[in-house]
Amino acid sequence: MSVLRFLTAGESHGPTLLGVLEGIPAGLALSEQDINQELARRQRGYGRGGRMQIEKDGVRILSGVRWGQTLGSPIGIEVTNRDWENWQENMAIAAPEQNAKSVAVTRPRPGHADLAGMLKYRTGDARNILERASARETDMRVAVGAVARRLLAHFGIEIYSHVIRIGKVKAIQVPSDLRELRERAEASPVHCADVDASRKMMDSIDAVQVVGDSLGGVFQVVVHPVPAGLGSHVHWDRRLDGCLAQALMSVPAIKAVEIGLGREVAERHGSQVHDEIFFDQEGRERDDAFLWRDQRWLTAGGFYRRTNRAGGIEGGMTNGSPIVVQATMKPIPTLREPLFSVDIEDLRPTAAGVERSDVCAVPSAAVVGEAMVAWVVASAFMEKFGGDSLPEIAARYEEHLLSLCPQAEIQ
Ligand SMILES: Cc1cc2nc3c(=O)[nH]c(=O)nc-3n(C[C@H](O)[C@H](O)[C@H](O)COP(=O)(O)O)c2cc1C
Repeated sequence: MSVLRFLTAGESHGPTLLGVLEGIPAGLALSEQDINQELARRQRGYGRGGRMQIEKDGVRILSGVRWGQTLGSPIGIEVTNRDWENWQENMAIAAPEQNAKSVAVTRPRPGHADLAGMLKYRTGDARNILERASARETDMRVAVGAVARRLLAHFGIEIYSHVIRIGKVKAIQVPSDLRELRERAEASPVHCADVDASRKMMDSIDAVQVVGDSLGGVFQVVVHPVPAGLGSHVHWDRRLDGCLAQALMSVPAIKAVEIGLGREVAERHGSQVHDEIFFDQEGRERDDAFLWRDQRWLTAGGFYRRTNRAGGIEGGMTNGSPIVVQATMKPIPTLREPLFSVDIEDLRPTAAGVERSDVCAVPSAAVVGEAMVAWVVASAFMEKFGGDSLPEIAARYEEHLLSLCPQAEIQ
């Protein structure tokens, strides 16, 4: 069982989204604002549909926090749905007085959960499926991930993402400095660190929007700095690469996950894939530093690599280099110019149904991806250093850092 657990509940047009987080230690500073700023990041992004204007999400922390700090008890989170007033009848808890068949969604969209869910749950109304399959659910994942981020940030571990491809347009001029990369991606409407590619990505989104089509793409998530030793080689469900792949693949519309060089390893020789090992006597060659007590920094010495083709993970464990993962998102299934489908009511050919929809959601998916990565890394962090309160965890963490960096300097 993972040390950290969360559950979410809520339909896309229901009154609220709920989250319950378990295992977050006591003593972590946490505010609603910490979570809201992440929710706002998910809502941005060129290519998103009209719903984003309605949502403007804000969170309410219902439990597990007192006077600005976590208590160690389950954290309850709620995001109310501002669109609910328009859906009260259609999404009512009580059975309708009249026959509600007229509002049933009977034309399943290819690529969405509609038909598979109707067959599985034996319903003739795809709304019973799509309300939960809708990516609105990922809003709560971002809220949950924001708490995991706070925990990691307390120990100086940061997570960010950038879009590296939308449709056929690839990011090429990507800064190697991670802070610059982050700033540029945050400033881009498509969350891409390459200014020129950003413009071309927006053009290609405009082009598919005109013809009623949609676009997918690829984003990268980076975790830095990361101590060596998170995850494990000993069991299939403790390998960090496997956990990250599962978590990212669980994001709706993600169809491939790669770590480090990813699929490119297939075509390279071993000497061009593996990262050579060096030892830094002075503690000066590595560009990372770990947050130490009282906001001071520990400059890491010890083992390091000059390349990071492995994406920071070897044998299912972090090796001290940044974690680098990529996820590929398919184009949005809801099309304004719909594909063929079959009407469930009369089994005749028909055009698929159309819901209000995004044209491209890769920038938002990147923020959801960050949240999932944050949760997995925080879970591995707790497995390695866990305790009930932050001081206990800090003591274990600091002891581990010193074992990794015998020549460490505290600044
Ligand atoms: C952030 C985000 C936004 C999405 N927005 C839409 C959307 O507006 N319309 C749509 O049809 N699918 C959207 N999707 C994708 C569907 O949720 C997804 O394709 C569907 O649940 C089926 O799951 P699958 O693609 O993994 O098979 C979005 C996904 C994400 C991650």
